[in-house]
Amino acid sequence: MLILGIETSCDDTAAAVLRDGRTILANMVSSQDQVHGPYGGVVPELASRQHIKNVLPIVDGALRKAGVKLMDLDGIAVTYGPGLVGSLLVGLSLVKGMSFRSGIPYVGVNHLEAHLLAIHLEQEVAFPYIALLASGGHTLLYCVNGVGDYAHLGGTRDDAAGEAFDKVAKMMGLGYPGGRIIDNLAREGDPKAIRFPRDRMKKSAYEFSFSGIKTAVWHYLGSQGKGRWEAQRADIAASFQEAVVDMLVSPTINAALARDVKRIVLSGGVAANSRLRAKMKEQAEDEGLQVFYPAPKFCTDNGAMIALAGYHWLKRGRRDDFGLNADADLTL
Ligand code: KG4
Ligand code: ZN
Repeated sequence: MLILGIETSCDDTAAAVLRDGRTILANMVSSQDQVHGPYGGVVPELASRQHIKNVLPIVDGALRKAGVKLMDLDGIAVTYGPGLVGSLLVGLSLVKGMSFRSGIPYVGVNHLEAHLLAIHLEQEVAFPYIALLASGGHTLLYCVNGVGDYAHLGGTRDDAAGEAFDKVAKMMGLGYPGGRIIDNLAREGDPKAIRFPRDRMKKSAYEFSFSGIKTAVWHYLGSQGKGRWEAQRADIAASFQEAVVDMLVSPTINAALARDVKRIVLSGGVAANSRLRAKMKEQAEDEGLQVFYPAPKFCTDNGAMIALAGYHWLKRGRRDDFGLNADADLTL
C-alpha cells in the first residue's frame, strides 16, 4: 500500500511517501524558521502564506524522490487538526482537490495521533506503552493500547514544554526555535549552576506546568543584569533545561509504574532533546522500564508520521468525504 502523507499544521511544510506502513521512500520538509525567527514565534498569517508557496514543490519533490506518480498511490493522508486553522486549510484543501480529481481516497489525520505512532516508522514497539508527547503546542501523557486506542492520562496546566524552551530562548535572544539551540548551548553549561524551581504536581495527577520556570528564568535574568547573565548563558540554559527535563520525567515514570506498563515512548519536537532522552532512559531503566524515542527528524513535524497514521486508517477502510473541515482544536 503506497501512501502520500502531507503535514501543514504549524510552521513546517512536509510530505512523505510510505510503502506498506514501513518503508519510507521519501520524507521532505520545508521549515519556516527563517520567516518566523525575527518574531521569536510562529506568526499564523505568515505561516499559511509560506505553506501556499511551499506545499506543491514539497509534494512534487517527495513523489519524484520516491519515484512514484500520483496515480500509483493507494491513498493520501493529511493533517486536519489540531493546529493553526489557516495552515491546516492549505494542506487539507490541496488534498481534497487531488483526491477529487484523481479518485484516490484520502483520510484526515489527527496530528497528535501521528506523533504517538511515529516510533513505529523505525522500530517495533509492542503495545501498550506510555507516550509522552511534548512539542511546541502540547505536553500530553497517554497510554497507547493500540492504533486508535489512546487513554489520556494527563497534560500541562499551562504552557507546553516546547513553548517554554522557545520563550526562554527568546528572553535570552538566542533565536528561534529555541529548543535545539538551548539543547546545544546546555552541553557547555553546568545543570546544577542555578537551582530553578520544579513545579511538583500530585504524584497521581500526571500533570505538568511550565509557566513557573519561565517566570523564574525571567526573574533570574533581571536579578543579574545583562552584563552578568550573558557570561552565564550556558549555565542558565543547562539549569533551565534540567528543570524542564525533571518535570517531564517524573510524571511519565510514575504513570508507567502506576499502570504497570513496561515501555515508555517519547514523541513530539521536545523528544529530540538530548538531556530528556538520556535522563528518561537512565531513570526508567532503574525502575526496570524501557524507553524508546524516534530519530530527531521523526520527533519534529514530518510527513512520514502522517502517512503512517493514515495508512492504518485507510487499511481499515476509512475514507473521508469532501465535507471534512480543518479543526484547530481537535482532541484525541
Ligand atoms: O512537534 P514539533 O515540530 O511541532 C509542534 O507540533 O509543536 O515541535 C516543535 C517544538 C518547538 O517548541 C522546539 O523548540 C522544540 O519542539 N524542540 C526542542 C528540540 N528540538 C525541537 N526542544 C528541546 N530540545 C530540542 N532538541
Ligand atoms: Zn507536532
